[in-house]
Amino acid sequence: MSWNSRKSAFSHEEVSAEHRLTKSLSWPHLIALGVGAIVGTGILTLIGVGADKAGPSVILSFVIAGAICACAALAYAEMATMIPASGSAYTYSYVVIGELFAWVVGWSLILEYSLVVSAVAVGWSGYAAPLLHDAFGVPMALMQGPELGGIVNVPAVLIIFVVAGLLILGTRESATLNAVLVLVKLAALVVFVAVTLPSFDSANFEPFMPFGFGKSVTADGVERGVMAAAAIIFFAFYGFDAIATAAEETKNPARDLSIGIVGSMVLCVLIYMAVAACAIGALTYTSFANSPEPLALILRELQHPWAARYLAISAVIALPTVILAFFYGQSRIFFVMARDGLLPRSLAQVSQRGSPTRVTLFTAAIVAVLAGLIPLNELAALANAGTLVAFGSVAGCMLIMRRRAPEAERKFRVPAAALVGAIAILGCAYLFYSLPSTTQTYFVIAQIVGLAIYFGFGRRHSQVGAAQ
Ligand code: ALA
Repeated sequence: MSWNSRKSAFSHEEVSAEHRLTKSLSWPHLIALGVGAIVGTGILTLIGVGADKAGPSVILSFVIAGAICACAALAYAEMATMIPASGSAYTYSYVVIGELFAWVVGWSLILEYSLVVSAVAVGWSGYAAPLLHDAFGVPMALMQGPELGGIVNVPAVLIIFVVAGLLILGTRESATLNAVLVLVKLAALVVFVAVTLPSFDSANFEPFMPFGFGKSVTADGVERGVMAAAAIIFFAFYGFDAIATAAEETKNPARDLSIGIVGSMVLCVLIYMAVAACAIGALTYTSFANSPEPLALILRELQHPWAARYLAISAVIALPTVILAFFYGQSRIFFVMARDGLLPRSLAQVSQRGSPTRVTLFTAAIVAVLAGLIPLNELAALANAGTLVAFGSVAGCMLIMRRRAPEAERKFRVPAAALVGAIAILGCAYLFYSLPSTTQTYFVIAQIVGLAIYFGFGRRHSQVGAAQ
């Protein structure tokens, strides 16, 4: 039992049948899973929070967050094809660095995935609530969290349990449904660009950087600046890592994972640039800053109510794909950590359909409580903190393996690895620094709780530790 035990890069066949996941996915499923996970509340809702923090230069925040994410995505692709086992950043850290570090990364991933599920459920509710109110007269107070004067955000809680049910029905069915819904979401963004483009006014980009570049506190006590916005907008770009967690369930990991990860990342960066430029160009940023449904609001302000409603309905139909993908990633991380003995092994049992039912229900209960009670921007900021730790560590693992095993077979190689790895690590550190100070404090507290669980349970039950 040692905190620095390293796991070997085991093959799929070594895992006992009871704890094995079905190999049912190939790259089109993964691109759909990736785009399904990436395009969501970040571009639909947090663009308003970003505009509040950076003004028109939120567009620069998009470029910075996207570039850092793209570098991390490349490192992910290399590591995922070298170690095609479930668990992504957690598993790579376990193999490359050691158990304690892997625990910290795994705990960060659990935090990330749980909070993304909660945050997107709240974002979904933001678009769904006005529609439910208009169509059925449901009181708004029943559909908002305490910060907006409600008690519990009931739609956010309900959507989480619906998605949990889909996952329990089985990976393959969920991934196929996901692919259809991804098209709905992309079509809505294309309509947004097409409708707002004729109203593009470059005067809306002046002054471009009203709050400066680095994080600083403005007169109203809010932390603002291009980097403060980038640290939130970062939320909009991740999701491709949910693909890497599906490695054990892909038919041909080398080809499927590199096409899935890099392809979905590039596609999303291009879509966001177009949407952000059109949003800022269409309207002064102050008119949609901090709105719970900024893109629909912009369309209404431009006198296109039909387009606004179409976008809101599309968001309501399609945002569950994001919840699905992160829920999927979350239950798999939990599953792999339990299989390794770091969390209770009873959680790592798969049903006859090959999906981990118990852990899915356990996760649903926790994230539903968070979604019901906590505001979106706080959930998103804390999710970002966990993600930044995971991304930085994957880039670190990629660089360490290049030195430790330069000749090892890599089915995908990061171009200019030293530069890309350095941008990913330093970029993640700078984004972490740019998060709200309260988020940083909560993150440290969450890690202390995690370490207490590791030293109280995980270290004593570790399979790898027991074998060494
Ligand atoms: N990238 C995902 C979203 O924006 C988490 O919703």
